[in-house]
This record gives sequence, structure tokens and C-alpha cells, in this order.
Amino acid sequence: MKLAVRVSMILALVALAAISAALLFSVPADAQGPVLADPECLGCHADSNLIKTLPSGELLSLYVDAALVAESVHGKKNIACAQCHSTITRFPHPEFVVADRRDVTLKLYGQCRQCHAENYSKSLDSAHTRALAGGDRNAAVCTDCHTAHTVTPPDQPRARIPQTCAQCHSTIFDDYAKSVHGADVLNGANPDVPTCIDCHGVHNIGDPTTAAFRLKSPEICAGCHTDPKRMAKYKISTNVLNTYVADFHGTTVQLFEKQSPDTPTNKPVCYDCHGVHNIRKPNDPNATVFKENLLKTCQQCHPDATDQTFTAAWMSHFDASPAKYPLVYYVNLFYTILIPLVIGGMALFVALDIYRRVRRLTPNADKPKTNRE
Ligand code: HEC
Ligand code: HEC
Ligand code: HEC
Ligand code: HEC
Ligand code: HEC
Ligand code: HEC
Ligand code: HEC
Ligand code: HEC
Ligand code: HEC
Repeated sequence: MKLAVRVSMILALVALAAISAALLFSVPADAQGPVLADPECLGCHADSNLIKTLPSGELLSLYVDAALVAESVHGKKNIACAQCHSTITRFPHPEFVVADRRDVTLKLYGQCRQCHAENYSKSLDSAHTRALAGGDRNAAVCTDCHTAHTVTPPDQPRARIPQTCAQCHSTIFDDYAKSVHGADVLNGANPDVPTCIDCHGVHNIGDPTTAAFRLKSPEICAGCHTDPKRMAKYKISTNVLNTYVADFHGTTVQLFEKQSPDTPTNKPVCYDCHGVHNIRKPNDPNATVFKENLLKTCQQCHPDATDQTFTAAWMSHFDASPAKYPLVYYVNLFYTILIPLVIGGMALFVALDIYRRVRRLTPNADKPKTNRE
């Protein structure tokens, strides 16, 4: 009996030892070994001398700054290296064939799709993805705007947005930075003025040079410029759309949009007069609508207009006021007072006349009252 107990105890111990050994020396989940945890990846990749020479001759640093990764939105959510690098989970890594530095980005950015499928599918139809498909390898992908390892909230502060686009659209950025809209974004965090993405969108940026975009564009401007709350702060008229549409130029653009949204139009939209990325206050000498520059702006489409009388005759989209267009203002005022006066006077006259006739038909109506009655 005793021996049997001993034997079974020894057997149990051996089995236990075998299991612990198996656990200790890690019996592989599959033949290649376990998925490496972040400290293990960093064991090699925190070395700033880890550099790979690409076939193009360019050097690819394989160094990853652990502190920056930890501070990123993903680090804060404890997203592991291997969650993004789902194909690189062990060492040696699977073969990675790339021609040059850009190829590394273009081969790896697709990882973002695993968790951000919605933004990824939105981007499929964008001007950037189309440019990429058309062979322009410099068109923006996720990591160009967000980085891979140091992703932080992309709109904080707001001035970061145009700076992100400026990496590749620097000429447009320079114009924008001096414009009435851009200067305000970059100087502080004015939430009322547009950044690039308010006009273009972000992940689904379309082609802004199409006829359809052009015809729709007054609505983009009007979204803010007819908003009384937003405009009151800057004392800017909210009537600019109404007056634009009432004007011969705007009326035809509206008609065009209804009939054939894809037909190019030669009628001006807001940005033909105001500029696109270089919009300035009308009293800024560099504004395309500044008094002295206005004729040149009109001449784009009215080459025969040769003197200021052409522009002076046009009321722009301002309401007349005693300061601006006093003649129009006073004529309007005259009519707004005269017409109610004349019509009101007529109505009063007719009413009094009827009253008088009714009184006359009523017996005794006109008899003076006496004390005796
Ligand atoms: C034992 C050291 C070591 C470990 C551990 C290691 N790597 Fe690497 N890694 C390298 C070396 C060396 C290269 C360059 C490979 C080459 O020259 O082809 C590399 C290349 C890479 C690349 C560039 C693309 C490629 O495949 O060449 C990525 C991405 C990468 N490692 C991610 C990771 C991740 C994620 C982990 C953890 C899951 C990890 N590595 C663990 C040594 C290591
Ligand atoms: C949010 C997803 C994500 C996480 C998390 C992530 N990576 Fe990456 N990693 C990428 C992408 C995308 C690229 C390609 C970046 C590029 O070159 O444009 C990349 C590139 C690399 C490269 C190639 C060199 C380079 O900078 O392009 C190495 C090495 C690498 N990662 C290692 C790591 C290690 C180690 C960790 C964990 C500490 C890690 N990555 C975490 C997405 C990620
Ligand atoms: C394994 C899943 C995963 C992958 C892969 C991944 N992300 Fe994320 N991402 C997250 C999570 C989780 C959050 C945090 C969401 C939240 O806080 O609501 C996040 C947030 C973000 C944010 C929002 C930041 C903010 O606060 O506004 C951006 C931008 C972002 N990721 C970009 C990327 C990019 C670029 C890639 C590819 C390099 C990528 N992500 C890959 C999971 C992932
Ligand atoms: C051209 C630059 C650009 C590209 C390319 C880009 N993003 Fe963004 N992304 C931004 C900006 C700017 C914001 C901030 C948007 C805002 O404040 O409304 C943003 C916001 C985000 C957010 C947080 C808000 C949200 O929509 O959930 C996530 C997540 C994100 N991007 C992921 C991605 C992924 C994944 C890709 C690739 C498929 C990608 N982005 C491509 C510029 C870009
Ligand atoms: C990594 C470089 C890069 C970044 C960052 C980038 N773009 Fe682009 N963008 C391109 C390239 C390349 C094209 C295609 C060539 C062209 O039309 O300029 C393009 C095209 C466009 C177009 C279409 C132009 C056309 O004529 O069809 C718009 C609009 C645009 N980008 C807006 C933006 C905005 C807004 C941002 C920031 C949120 C941004 N881009 C960030 C590289 C970039
Ligand atoms: C107030 C609205 C608005 C803002 C803000 C704006 N854009 Fe545009 N953008 C437009 C319009 C409208 C067009 C079309 C102009 C045309 O067809 O002549 C355009 C055209 C473009 C184009 C293509 C045509 C070209 O000139 O190459 C790119 C690229 C572009 N914008 C990038 C940007 C970037 C980057 C920013 C921020 C720095 C920005 N935009 C800010 C309205 C805007
Ligand atoms: C996101 C809202 C927004 C959009 C979209 C927008 N604007 Fe503005 N705009 C503003 C604000 C706010 C100001 C005042 C900024 C200031 O004075 O500091 C302004 C100022 C101006 C001014 C100067 C007016 C003055 O008297 O000082 C002009 C002109 C102008 N915008 C034209 C346009 C045109 C044209 C478009 C479309 C292509 C447009 N805006 C799109 C918000 C917007
Ligand atoms: C045919 C040219 C033309 C078109 C089209 C045009 N504008 Fe103007 N806009 C002007 C001129 C000129 C001025 C300055 C008038 C002045 O100072 O007497 C002006 C002034 C403005 C102002 C300043 C108003 C203020 O109270 O300070 C804003 C805002 C504005 N326009 C927005 C727009 C918007 C939005 C559109 C499209 C819906 C548009 N404009 C279409 C020529 C034009
Ligand atoms: C983008 C082109 C374009 C710009 C810029 C433009 N116009 Fe016009 N304008 C037109 C077209 C096209 C018509 C004809 C409209 C119609 O017949 O429906 C027109 C018609 C007119 C008319 C009516 C009389 C006529 O000649 O047919 C006047 C007045 C006029 N524009 C003044 C101006 C002034 C002033 C400016 C500058 C502040 C200006 N336009 C800027 C395209 C433009």
C-alpha cells in the first residue's frame, strides 16, 4: 500500500515537473514561438544604431522611441506593437521587400485599417487615393498626416490642421497663412474661421477643380457667412449670399446648378472675385476686391471694361447705406417712406369718407347734443 502511494506521488511529481518545465521553456503555440511583447520588440528596436539599407541606397532607421509611443493615443490605450504589426510578431521577421523609403510607408499604412475601417473606406474615394492610384506616390496616406508611432489628437490645437497639409501644399499654405481666414487660425485658436478641412473635407477630400464643386462652392462660404451669430462678432454683413443671388451673376449660377450641375459656368462664384486661399478684408490693399484692384478682377471675364465707371456702376453685394451708395440709399429710403405714406394716406382718406357717409345715413347722428336731453 505504502509503496503504491509513493509510486503514484513520484509519478505525480514527475508529471508536475514536466508540466512546469513545459510552461517554463514555453511549449510553442505553433512551431515558430510565441508572439513577442512590446518590451521584447523594444529590446532590439530601442537601439538607435539599428539601421537597414534599402535597395534604393536610402537608410531606414529601425529605431522606435518607446517614450513617444507610450504618450501616443495608442500607447495610452495599451495597443501593442504586434497589434498594428500583425504580420511581424516574431524574430526573424518575415521577408519585407521594399524598393525605397516611400515604399515602406505605402506597404505598412494599410495596418490602420484593422481598427479604423470607416476612415479607411472613406479615404478610398478621395483625391489623394486617386492620385496615388494614378501613380503619384507622394499623395497623402494615413501616416503622412498622423504619423505611425506618435499619433496625437490631430485637431489640437486647431492650427495643427493647416500645418499638416502644409507638408505637401506649402504654396497654398503660404497664401492661406496671410489670408483673413488663415491668419486668425494660426495666430490663435479662432474657431470661427475655416481651416483647410472645412472647405475640403478630410478623409474624403474631393477634386475641387470640377464644375460641380465650383457650382456648390457658394454654399460652403454661405454656411458661415449667413450665420448671424458667427458674423456679428466681426460686424460682417450676413446678406452677402442674398445679394449675390439677387445679382445677375448669382442668379445665373443658381439656374445652372438646377439645370445641369456638371456644366462649367463662366459666371463668377464667390472665389472668382475674392480669391480662394488668399481672401482678404475688402479694405486690405492686397485684396482682389480692394477698390484699386477690383477692375482687374472684373477684367478676367469683362476684358472690355476699361475704366472705373464699370465697377462703380455695380453695387457689389452691399445694402446701400448713407456711407455707401448714398444716392441709392436715399432713393430707397424715400420710397420706403413715400410709398407707405401715399398708400396709407389713401386708405385713411377712403376710410374717413366711408365713415362720414355712414354717419350721414344714420338719423340724428349729426344732431348736436343738448344739456336738456
Ligand atoms: C532580435 C531583435 C529583434 C526583435 C526582438 C524584433 N525585431 Fe524588428 N527588426 C529587427 C531587425 C534586425 C530588423 C531588420 C530586418 C532586415 O534587415 O530585414 C527588423 C525590422 C523590423 C521592421 C521593419 C520591416 C521589416 O520587416 O524589415 C519592423 C516593422 C519591425 N522590425 C517590427 C518589430 C516588432 C513589431 C517586433 C516585436 C513584435 C520586433 N520587430 C521585434 C530586429 C528585431
Ligand atoms: C498604431 C499602429 C502601430 C503601432 C502601435 C506600432 N507601429 Fe511600428 N509602424 C507602423 C506603421 C504604419 C509603420 C510604417 C511607418 C512609415 O514608415 O511610414 C511602422 C513602422 C515601423 C518600423 C519601421 C521603421 C519606420 O519607422 O518606418 C519599425 C521598426 C516599427 N514600426 C516598430 C514598432 C515597434 C517596436 C512598436 C512598438 C513599440 C511599433 N512599431 C508600434 C504602425 C505601428
Ligand atoms: C489595434 C487597433 C488600432 C490600430 C491598428 C490603429 N488604431 Fe488608431 N486608435 C485606436 C484606438 C483604440 C484609439 C482611441 C479611440 C478613442 O479614444 O476613442 C485610436 C485613436 C486614433 C486617432 C484619434 C486621435 C484623437 O484623439 O482624436 C487617430 C488619429 C488614430 N487612431 C490614427 C491611427 C493611425 C494613423 C493608425 C495606423 C498607423 C492607427 N490609428 C491604427 C486603435 C487602433
Ligand atoms: C490629408 C491628411 C489626412 C489623412 C491622409 C488621413 N487623416 Fe485622419 N485626420 C486628419 C485630420 C486633419 C483629422 C482631424 C479631423 C477633425 O478635427 O475633424 C483626422 C482625424 C482622424 C481620426 C479621429 C477622428 C475620426 O474621424 O474618427 C482618426 C481615427 C483618423 N483620422 C484616422 C485616419 C486613418 C485610419 C487614415 C488612413 C485611412 C487617415 N486618418 C488619413 C487628417 C488626415
Ligand atoms: C504627403 C503629402 C500630402 C499631404 C500631407 C496632403 N496632401 Fe493633398 N495632395 C498631395 C498630392 C501629391 C496630391 C495630388 C497632386 C496634386 O493635385 O497636387 C494632393 C491632392 C490634393 C487635393 C486635390 C487637388 C486637385 O487638383 O485635385 C486637395 C484638395 C488636397 N490635396 C488637399 C489637402 C488637404 C486639405 C490636406 C491636409 C488635411 C492635404 N491635402 C495633405 C499630397 C499631400
Ligand atoms: C474657404 C475655403 C477654403 C479653404 C479654407 C481652403 N481651400 Fe483649398 N480650395 C478651395 C476652393 C474653392 C478650391 C478650388 C479653386 C479653383 O478651382 O480654382 C480649392 C483648391 C485647392 C486645391 C487644388 C487646386 C490648387 O490650387 O492646386 C488644393 C490642393 C487645396 N485647395 C488645398 C488647400 C489647403 C492645403 C488648404 C489649407 C492650408 C486649403 N486648401 C484651404 C477652398 C478652400
Ligand atoms: C468656417 C466658416 C467660414 C467659411 C467656410 C468661410 N468664411 Fe469667410 N470669414 C469667416 C470669419 C469668421 C471671418 C472674419 C475673420 C476676421 O475678421 O477675423 C471671415 C472673413 C471673410 C472676409 C473678410 C470680410 C471683412 O469684411 O472683413 C471675406 C471677404 C470672406 N470671409 C469671404 C469668404 C469666402 C469667399 C468664402 C468661401 C470661399 C468664405 N469666406 C468661407 C468665416 C468663414
Ligand atoms: C462679382 C464679384 C463678387 C462676387 C461674385 C462676390 N463678391 Fe463678395 N464682395 C465683392 C466686393 C467688390 C466686395 C467689397 C465691396 C465694398 O467694399 O464696397 C465684397 C465684400 C464681401 C464681404 C465683406 C462684407 C462686409 O460686411 O464686410 C464678404 C463677407 C463677401 N463679400 C462674401 C462673399 C460671398 C460669401 C460671396 C458668394 C456667395 C461673394 N462675396 C461673392 C465682390 C464679390
Ligand atoms: C468669372 C467671370 C466674371 C467675373 C469675375 C465678373 N463677371 Fe460680370 N458677368 C459675367 C458673365 C458671364 C455675365 C453675363 C451674365 C448673364 O448674361 O447672365 C456678367 C454680367 C455682368 C453685368 C451685366 C451687364 C453685362 O455686361 O452683361 C455687369 C454690370 C457685370 N457683370 C459687372 C461685373 C463687375 C463689376 C465685376 C467685378 C466686380 C464682374 N462683373 C466680374 C462674368 C463675370
